[in-house]
Amino acid sequence: MKQTINFTLNGELVEVEIEPHLTLLQLLRDKLELIGTKEGCGMGECGACTVLLDGKTVNSCIFPAMEVEGKKVVTIEGLMDAQGNLHPIQKAFVEQGAVQCGFCTPGMVLSAKALLDENPKPTEEEIRHGIAGNLCRCTGYIQIIEAIKAVSGQ
Ligand code: FES
Ligand code: FES
Repeated sequence: MKQTINFTLNGELVEVEIEPHLTLLQLLRDKLELIGTKEGCGMGECGACTVLLDGKTVNSCIFPAMEVEGKKVVTIEGLMDAQGNLHPIQKAFVEQGAVQCGFCTPGMVLSAKALLDENPKPTEEEIRHGIAGNLCRCTGYIQIIEAIKAVSGQ
């Protein structure tokens, strides 16, 4: 039986009827057509599906959609401003060459955002720790770390 949930998605209130077994990733991509969030492993191991839930990163592929009731979800689509300008973290990724195939990028950017919101001047070790749950199969880690340093003014 379907159930109704209400939550805030990228600043907008959303009310949606879902099957209780749905994951947050399925809700975002299949029902709400926000395909910026990627599915890699589907098992909570690669971080491609990372979104922010009340400011903290979650692996949406293993997170029950029902549990976002009353909470705030931010996906990569929510980072641009009202004029369609990229978020400074996204700009830094582009400028530092931190995007290769781009599959890991939405998750990496959101993990970087969660880190910088909590710790605006992270050390390199803290950056590495902050993105430890996000795998990049193109192995662009050096550029990704440089991008996060650049956006934090380092
Ligand atoms: S797709 Fe969710 S962690 Fe890999
Ligand atoms: S840029 Fe290709 S997986 Fe990271």
